[in-house]
Amino acid sequence: MNSTIETLLAHRSIRKYEKRKIEATKLDLILRAACNGSTMGNMQLFSIIVTEDPEMMAKAAPFHFHQSMVTEAPLILTFCADFNRFNKYCQYREAETTAYSNLQSYHWAVTDALIAAQNACIAAESLGLGICWLGTITFNCDKFIDLFKLPEHVFPVASISIGYPAETPELTDKLPIEGLIHSEEYHDYSEMDINRIYHEKENHPNTKALYEENQTANLAKIFTEKRYKKADNEHFAEILTEMLKRQGFLKNK
Ligand SMILES: Cc1cc2nc3c(=O)[nH]c(=O)nc-3n(C[C@H](O)[C@H](O)[C@H](O)COP(=O)(O)O)c2cc1C
Repeated sequence: MNSTIETLLAHRSIRKYEKRKIEATKLDLILRAACNGSTMGNMQLFSIIVTEDPEMMAKAAPFHFHQSMVTEAPLILTFCADFNRFNKYCQYREAETTAYSNLQSYHWAVTDALIAAQNACIAAESLGLGICWLGTITFNCDKFIDLFKLPEHVFPVASISIGYPAETPELTDKLPIEGLIHSEEYHDYSEMDINRIYHEKENHPNTKALYEENQTANLAKIFTEKRYKKADNEHFAEILTEMLKRQGFLKNK
């Protein structure tokens, strides 16, 4: 065990924060850690938008569905897949500029942005701060593209709230790791495997509370019928497709 592994194993999402600004030195370390991750071809295909201004937070809040973290946290970092900067570099050096207007390029840039985001999270947690990812950035990508004035070839992929924790929640229950690891090749799951892997989660006190709240003892249905419904997913997928076209990563057919 070392302090890096200790930080990783102590991870839990923090949704309540102290009213305390993050020191500039800490923010600088978080951003340096974020910018020093592995990156496709060392092209660094991401940008980070730092939000600290309460007015900007207030503008973003409705697009984050008014989640408490957005109004409470002193800092939000938004990680964007970014081929704009590299395309401009190519343009000013008279290189090909249409090579990266496709889904493959988007995939590289998303990977770079997510590596940067997770590096920032680990750095923040190692400095005693709490973090929470905000999936709403993907639901409302169109709104954030406008809010942050993202040009073509830039796409928001992750938003993270960061602050001094005002809570210490229990570690969140996770599937047993043997359920996630495959030796040498993928071994597809039988019904018995699924029963075994999900047994603990289905009987966890947190899940029991969900059963009560949703008046059903079927966790899978709570996901498909309440939390992440097909109709909602298809609606947001349409927006995502439209925005990928508008930002130049998907062709208009
Ligand atoms: C892509 C992504 C989006 C998420 N979006 C939200 C969110 O919008 N609101 C929230 O409260 N938690 C959000 N989370 C946090 C997860 O709910 C959390 O990571 C998960 O329940 C596991 O708990 P833990 O982080 O405490 O281990 C998100 C996490 C990820 C990776």
